[in-house]
Amino acid sequence: VKQQILALLRENIRNIGDFPQPGIQFKDITPLLQNPDTLELTSQVLARPFRSHNVDYVVGLESRGFLFGTNLAQDLHAGFIPIRKPGKLPSDTLSATYALEYGEDTIEIHRDAFSEGARILIHDDLIATGGSAAAATELVEELGGKVVGYSFIIGLKELKGTALLPAKVPVEILLSL
Ligand code: PRP
Ligand code: MG
Repeated sequence: VKQQILALLRENIRNIGDFPQPGIQFKDITPLLQNPDTLELTSQVLARPFRSHNVDYVVGLESRGFLFGTNLAQDLHAGFIPIRKPGKLPSDTLSATYALEYGEDTIEIHRDAFSEGARILIHDDLIATGGSAAAATELVEELGGKVVGYSFIIGLKELKGTALLPAKVPVEILLSL
């Protein structure tokens, strides 16, 4: 991605100290959404590396993975599938539970979201430990989908979250912070 574009994205992501807990540096993408130029640009830049990957569906993670996920799907002429927090999806679901620093979290997908062999791009705003993206991978694979890529706006370098993802699948991170 061109330096100029990266600079524009970087300028529109705010760091909020001690949110939601003391010691956490929260990466706030609301300015990126608020600015019409970066709103349009971000999904285009996210889509570019996957244009020739024949993506059938973008799977977006609730909630911040929904913000650019549908735009990204639209840009790739793919469908969009939500992965949600427990109890939100109305039809039959498959769940995955994964460990957090303290405690655990569960995410769900509709069992009939796609047919076997579908080519899936997993998208979220940010990868930290990689726990949620890895759990999303489990859900997609258990339903017979093929994860063909990962797309994140931000990656937290120090946490090395991509280590939890399959080594041979391309991971695109716009900004490593
Ligand atoms: C944040 C972020 C990613 C996830 C990354 O979501 O938006 O989804 O954490 O963390 P991981 O790589 O360690 O799994 P959060 O749970 O804060 O919820 P939100 O998107 O609904 O705000
Ligand atoms: Mg999230």
